[in-house]
Amino acid sequence: MPTTSLVDSKYFTVTCVLILILGLFPGLPQFLLGLPLCALKLAFSTRQFSSPSNIVTCPTGCAPLDSVDMSSSWFQKTFTLPSKSRGSYLITDHVESSLPEIKDYKVGILNLFVQHTSCALSLNENWDSDVREDMSDALDRIAPEDRKGNLYRHSAEGLDDMPAHIKSALIGASVTIPITNGTLNIGTWQGIWYLEFRASKHTRKVVATIQGEKR
Ligand SMILES: *[C@@H]1O[C@H](CO)[C@@H](O)[C@H](O)[C@H]1NC(C)=O
Repeated sequence: MPTTSLVDSKYFTVTCVLILILGLFPGLPQFLLGLPLCALKLAFSTRQFSSPSNIVTCPTGCAPLDSVDMSSSWFQKTFTLPSKSRGSYLITDHVESSLPEIKDYKVGILNLFVQHTSCALSLNENWDSDVREDMSDALDRIAPEDRKGNLYRHSAEGLDDMPAHIKSALIGASVTIPITNGTLNIGTWQGIWYLEFRASKHTRKVVATIQGEKR
């Protein structure tokens, strides 16, 4: 019948054109199939950039971003440590009473920095005072006094001075402690230590810096 052959020849033409197009652009079907995925990706990425809080990724377990106030507060002050001669001392209580501002922070970081070169700050056992005495003795063995005069060049300030510099470099001048809900979040057996390495009493200055979000 003439109508059927007309339809047949139409299909034939369309098929020929399709084959021609596929021949010219072999990647076309893949491109067409990928279009919906592309559109989805685009939608999500534009959403992310339209709202700045969405850019910050939140690992599982942390507070939901909507409830976090991103504004942060800085606080700084200097206080002195009780004057001590050589030894290791627990100063957690002294730090807390010198810094009532810790209570103002919901979440934050306290940095303590001692401005001297012959003492140190550390975090260590808060219970048995033997640990503090053993630490001082161990450091004396690591950096002994130069009684025979053949270990160090620097001796102008006395036998105890150069060992004090070495111990100070080994232990460090600062500690950083997390603040959680207005308290120092240290472990049950942890305390803040001030290690004095000079033989005679010295008064040491500490710069305390707090950064965090207030309560
Ligand atoms: C935070 O500390 C306050 C007291 O300062 C207490 O009432 C509250 O329960 C604490 N919140 C958490 C989550 O520990």
